[in-house]
Amino acid sequence: MLVDEALRARRSVRAFLPQPVPRVVIEEILKSAARAPSGTNIQPWKIHVVAGEVRDRLVREVLAYRHTEPADTHAEFPRWGKRKEPYVTRMRTLGKAMYGLLGIPKGDPAANERQWARNYQFFDAPVGLILTIDKDLDVMSFFDTGMFAMAIMLAAKARGLDTCGQGAWNNYWSVTRRVLNVPDDQYIVCGISLGYADETAPVNGLLSEREPVESFATFHGF
Ligand SMILES: Cc1cc2nc3c(=O)[nH]c(=O)nc-3n(C[C@H](O)[C@H](O)[C@H](O)COP(=O)(O)O)c2cc1C
Repeated sequence: MLVDEALRARRSVRAFLPQPVPRVVIEEILKSAARAPSGTNIQPWKIHVVAGEVRDRLVREVLAYRHTEPADTHAEFPRWGKRKEPYVTRMRTLGKAMYGLLGIPKGDPAANERQWARNYQFFDAPVGLILTIDKDLDVMSFFDTGMFAMAIMLAAKARGLDTCGQGAWNNYWSVTRRVLNVPDDQYIVCGISLGYADETAPVNGLLSEREPVESFATFHGF
């Protein structure tokens, strides 16, 4: 698959088939993705690849923990900047489209909660990826890790696999840390669900909007 094709074909998938992903395929994806650039080549990313029993235990423990009013419902690092326009509108547009496809009406907190909890089941994907970085690193390492994450998404797409990036895994980090033995000196940056898309699920028909190039690019000297 050409890179441009993969870029255009990739979408966040939020319903997966149970079909397992062979470890060798994941290793290939990670080998390619590790070609992602990073400032001064420090390659700050670490990744936990979670499947089988461990995946099921992580899902079970996070879901159980969510109902105990835990203290770590926020990321360990500053996450949300000021909520302002145009970002709030874009976020709402996405939410409206997604919840519309899911058939969840506005003002149904129980259904919203059930859908949000799907994050912590990796949307039924057989593989969950948890990305971490050393807490001593700075914002540029988050940037590097984002490029690594995107490279994973594209390398997966090129192999007929789909993904969903998940900031949701910033939350309940104490459980993830314990179950996966993530050292205390690492931030849990995000999760990625990885697997084969359930093409029959309406939510996977979501094509999120994008702003036109002229709205975000300023050309100089042309
Ligand atoms: C860093 C990051 C965190 C995200 N967190 C979540 C999440 O927790 N749950 C979710 O359903 N989607 C999550 N997404 C997916 C975004 O909603 C999605 O990328 C965006 O709406 C654009 O849609 P697309 O990926 O289908 O092009 C995340 C994406 C990124 C890059």
